Amino acid sequence: MSQLIKTKNEFINKRRALPGRVGLVPTMGNLHQGHLDLVKQAIEDCDHVLVTIFVNPKQFGPNEDFANYPRTLESDIEKINSLEGSDKVIVFAPENNEEIYPENFQTEIRVKDITDVLCGKYRPGHFDGVTTVVYQLFSISMPHFAYFGQKDYQQFKVIEKMSQDLLLPLGLVMVPTTRDEDGLALSSRNNYLSADERKQALTLPNSLRELAQNLVDNKDYILLKDEIKKKLENDSHWQYLEVYDADTFKEVHTESKTYLLAGAYQLGKARLIDNVLIGV
Ligand code: PAJ
Repeated sequence: MSQLIKTKNEFINKRRALPGRVGLVPTMGNLHQGHLDLVKQAIEDCDHVLVTIFVNPKQFGPNEDFANYPRTLESDIEKINSLEGSDKVIVFAPENNEEIYPENFQTEIRVKDITDVLCGKYRPGHFDGVTTVVYQLFSISMPHFAYFGQKDYQQFKVIEKMSQDLLLPLGLVMVPTTRDEDGLALSSRNNYLSADERKQALTLPNSLRELAQNLVDNKDYILLKDEIKKKLENDSHWQYLEVYDADTFKEVHTESKTYLLAGAYQLGKARLIDNVLIGV
């Protein structure tokens, strides 16, 4: 069974006393199998695993779902406790926002350039909120490894850039996207979908898979761009659908090693994102 800690000071003291390899899995709770797969990987790799559950106000825009974001601590803990090795886990769920952002908090961590595109373009300030809280979580957790999902690939790369630039002494692990049987990436925001929207949501993973297959079969980047353009023209639910160099988030070029195909698809209240990586 895991342990639950609700204050920063207790968490810091607990962490300081932990021997061996420590893994960190930051989350906003409402845990699903995708989150649990990160925790499982961390349990496998590490002696102790810190799971944080904090709905971070700084990463939500003014018209986004911060107030309605599902908060389900009790069932989150039950899910963690159902994992083999859950006795290695310490859950840090701050009891209020002041634990993380006390009055007069004035610092912001901002990664430039790669936050200007894809989700960053449509969610101004979002990644600044993510890097600011993740930096704090790294500070108090002092992890040897931190685990993030490929589902949020841009988030992973932004955190990687921050960690490299600020010389943070830890390793980052990217865990593959966990999907429902029909291919939809698991997300807390899938709960917002009606039955009809849930069916239509498959357009996102299906399109990415189809485009990736086209590229592998035809090796024709111009054709790929055309196919993307057609999809965007024919379906207004797309917020973006893009192909970039997966390391620079710029146009692919002859030396690109990996292509990133990424899309955001808006269905009612739910904004869904997904991506595939294609080695070339
Ligand atoms: P959250 O959306 O709760 O996601 C927590 C972690 O779970 C992230 O690393 C995310 O990429 C991963 N994840 C979510 N769905 C996944 C899936 N279907 N398969 C694999 N991994 C998945 O991402 C955040 O919270 C926040 O931005 C956070 C990093 C905690 C900072 O507040």
